[in-house]
Amino acid sequence: MFLVDAPITGRRQVARDMFVIGMHAPEIAFAVRAGQFVNLAWSAGPLLRRPFSVYRSDGAQIEVVLKAVGEGTTQLLAMEVGEHVSCLGPLGRGFEIGPGIRTAVLISGGLGVAPMPLAARDAREAGARVIWVHGARTAAELCSEAEGDEVIWATDDGSQGEHGTAVAAAPQAEVVVACGPNRMLAAVAERWPEAQVAVETYMGCGTGVCLGCAVPRKRGGYDRACSEGPVYRAADIDWAALPSHLSYAATA
Ligand SMILES: Cc1cc2nc3c(=O)[nH]c(=O)nc-3n(C[C@H](O)[C@H](O)[C@H](O)COP(=O)(O)OP(=O)(O)OC[C@H]3O[C@@H](n4cnc5c(N)ncnc54)[C@H](O)[C@@H]3O)c2cc1C
Ligand code: FES
Repeated sequence: MFLVDAPITGRRQVARDMFVIGMHAPEIAFAVRAGQFVNLAWSAGPLLRRPFSVYRSDGAQIEVVLKAVGEGTTQLLAMEVGEHVSCLGPLGRGFEIGPGIRTAVLISGGLGVAPMPLAARDAREAGARVIWVHGARTAAELCSEAEGDEVIWATDDGSQGEHGTAVAAAPQAEVVVACGPNRMLAAVAERWPEAQVAVETYMGCGTGVCLGCAVPRKRGGYDRACSEGPVYRAADIDWAALPSHLSYAATA
């Protein structure tokens, strides 16, 4: 884990209200694995750091993708290139995509697109054919960036791609990884109990200390999403007990 004083290097829009921010953080960019996150703070920012999945990394720079949903994300999106962000990471346990896989399906709903470019990279390196299924409410909310040998779009209103959810549009595969609203991940768990899913929780410290990120386990008790997660085997989570209202990736 590294603490990097990272200058913002750029910002681009990838969907309605959805932006990618780049930061120069070479130590984190080198070490990060798909599904891991960084905890960000900045001067005059909120008291608690804010967690964001790493969207892309190129060895020197990391990117995060976000929408303004509250104080922290609104401030972050208002920052200029050259301003500095305190970046703690990489944090958490990411996706495990081992060698020898023939097909990997990546399912993302809304901002759940966040860990997918790195997951696609890892799946490709593992020799897999990558099918990326991305869903949102409408065409305007679909992330314009996707990778994979095949990309399937799905919209709730049918304005682009399949009419319906990303989960319904996804084909069968050897390996399934998913990120999106918890209710979407619960549907993934029903269809693919062995899928690897990156869950949403509230977070405090991000480093295993405050217990603010509890994830209810099927076998009883709780895990800490920041340490044992945020990636889990879908069947291991008690979905009925996990809050489904969080707004991080509020479309499926
Ligand atoms: C492991 C992890 C990875 C994440 N990755 C991303 C990402 O890649 N892109 C992204 O945009 N967001 C991501 N989030 C969610 C992001 O951290 C919250 O959107 C952010 O903390 C909100 O901060 P805020 O100050 O803008 O909102 P606040 O003012 O704190 O809250 C505004 C609204 O956001 C909701 N909210 C606050 N915290 C969270 C949270 N942790 N999850 C869901 N909803 C929350 C609140 O209920 C409220 O409705 C991630 C969260 C976790 C736990
Ligand atoms: S966020 Fe503090 S223990 Fe997980």
